[in-house]
Amino acid sequence: MTPPQIKDFHRIVFFTGAGMSAESGIPTYRGQGGVWSQYNWEDYACQDAFERDPEKVWDFHDTRRRAVAACAPNPGHLAVAAVQRDRPATVVITQNIDGLHQLAGASSVIELHGSLWRVRCDAEGTIHDDRSAPIAARRCGCGAYLRPDIVWFGDALDPANMRRAIAALAGCDLLVSVGTSGVVYPAADLPRRAMKGGAVTVEINLEDTPVSDLYQHRLRGKASEMLASMMA
Ligand code: APR
Repeated sequence: MTPPQIKDFHRIVFFTGAGMSAESGIPTYRGQGGVWSQYNWEDYACQDAFERDPEKVWDFHDTRRRAVAACAPNPGHLAVAAVQRDRPATVVITQNIDGLHQLAGASSVIELHGSLWRVRCDAEGTIHDDRSAPIAARRCGCGAYLRPDIVWFGDALDPANMRRAIAALAGCDLLVSVGTSGVVYPAADLPRRAMKGGAVTVEINLEDTPVSDLYQHRLRGKASEMLASMMA
């Protein structure tokens, strides 16, 4: 059966996870070889760990910065950016912190879980971009540590991002979920907004996920190939 075709829709939302960047060489979080099978997030990706040992947490994030800096957008990222160029109302809602959607040329990207390439002063809360890998300075001018501007476990998501995401999903006519395991909330709950709004829904993944039943179409295969099949 031919999958839904992008050309037949006007208000498209792409909801992406780590599987979107797997073909760029960035490991996913779960499953074989996943980041959390090698690192315990309680020691590397939460505020408590950062307060306990900021250098250890920075060593981990510097490893990620170096790894991600060496990667480029894959054909899947380029396909999403191309859709957005043709259909400017297209919105990308991503859980990824790697910035590859933007590097591929996508503009309206909602980074639900923050970015590897932004830092925040842990005392003043000021945020700035920093693409150095490893990071040039781990401390702010005020002397306090800078922390990655990433939504770690236990952190709240930015309410403004949630509002933008909910508005985009409620008004879309096509939702394409790409490469997410659907186990991390509140992000995993967001696609339901599109379903409530009557959108056509597509899940692209190598395998079934705990939320697959919610989707009308389940395309099983690599992100770049399945996206290409929707742009025949
Ligand atoms: N194409 C399509 N899907 C893929 C590919 C690929 N090439 N490679 C892997 N996948 C799928 C896996 O089958 C899995 O379902 O991508 C999914 C990746 O799942 P996770 O590793 O759990 O990543 P994600 O869902 O993005 O994690 C959500 O959890 O760790 C936190 O904050 C972190 O944003 C992250 C959140």
